[in-house]
Amino acid sequence: MKKRILVVSSANMDFVQSVERVPDAGETVIESRSYSYVPGGKGANSALAFARLGADTVFCAKVGRDDNARKLRKLYESEGIDIRFLSEDRETPTGLASILVEENGANRIIVYPGANEKLCEHDVEDAFTCYPDGVFVQLEIPDSAVIAAARFARENKIPLFVDAGPAREDFPLEKLFGAEIISPNETECRILTGITPDSVDNCLKACIRLATITEAKHVVLKLGHRGSFVYDGKYYNIVPSHKVPVEDTTAAGDVFTAALSYAYIQKGDILESARFATLAAAICVSRKGASTSIPTLREVKAFAKTIRGPKA
Ligand code: ATP
Ligand code: RIB
Repeated sequence: MKKRILVVSSANMDFVQSVERVPDAGETVIESRSYSYVPGGKGANSALAFARLGADTVFCAKVGRDDNARKLRKLYESEGIDIRFLSEDRETPTGLASILVEENGANRIIVYPGANEKLCEHDVEDAFTCYPDGVFVQLEIPDSAVIAAARFARENKIPLFVDAGPAREDFPLEKLFGAEIISPNETECRILTGITPDSVDNCLKACIRLATITEAKHVVLKLGHRGSFVYDGKYYNIVPSHKVPVEDTTAAGDVFTAALSYAYIQKGDILESARFATLAAAICVSRKGASTSIPTLREVKAFAKTIRGPKA
């Protein structure tokens, strides 16, 4: 039977512009390439990744009462995501992210959180009535909602998966104790631990620090084109990324952690799960946009074959 994953996180509409270069302070840059509106938000990207990879996905988030919310709902429904716990705040617009994507695929993102800021403990408690097999959180919603999800997961003995983005120095990480996996990217790792994961030694130190604070069973650092650093509480492994033409890295982290968590909840092998997540993330970076770049299970399997050969 399919595992049911409850994603407690954010939903945004992304306003995306491809740019040759980002402007300096006080500078206006004319950029004639087209712009687009693409469904995004860390939570929605991960929920879409779970759904496309085959999970029974339940999405708990907050949107406004506006056109963007209608478009987002339509997409989630068409992807088979259970949106009974996607609620509406009448006074606040749906979250919006402004994203600049440079020619090398790197992005810069500013998020207007809007309705995401209204997700509350009560919404989260309500969503737990779906009887999830796993709970997945990110930090793009109020701390109180993240902490409530962690507490309900613990009380009900449901495995908790934490994508630590976007991180803040003062986030009370210790309140997420007992997580199955915690996974920050390089910036989040530095913000949360004070350690820049630029060497094996520093990666290991950062993982030990995070594991000590959160009592997480596994810490997986996302290291961009360098791949990921997987720590199981005793040993570490490095999973290199795949060489692919990079279009846009937006949502790579969201897809990676969702794929990692879903593979892990099915088989319980953290290293295998990180390899699977690396395949999914490689496809994501080779495509444009957030929701538009998230692969299906079939696509991940096909990509794996091109790497390992058809008999793999
Ligand atoms: P985002 O760009 O969505 O904010 P992130 O910073 O949260 O992503 P990254 O560490 O950049 O997370 O990427 C997550 C995973 O995606 C990496 O661990 C790696 O496997 C894959 N990845 C990222 N960048 C590249 C790349 N340039 N080439 C191949 N794979 C990549
Ligand atoms: O991780 C990428 C996402 O971050 C974008 O889709 C944007 O909405 C922001 O939440």
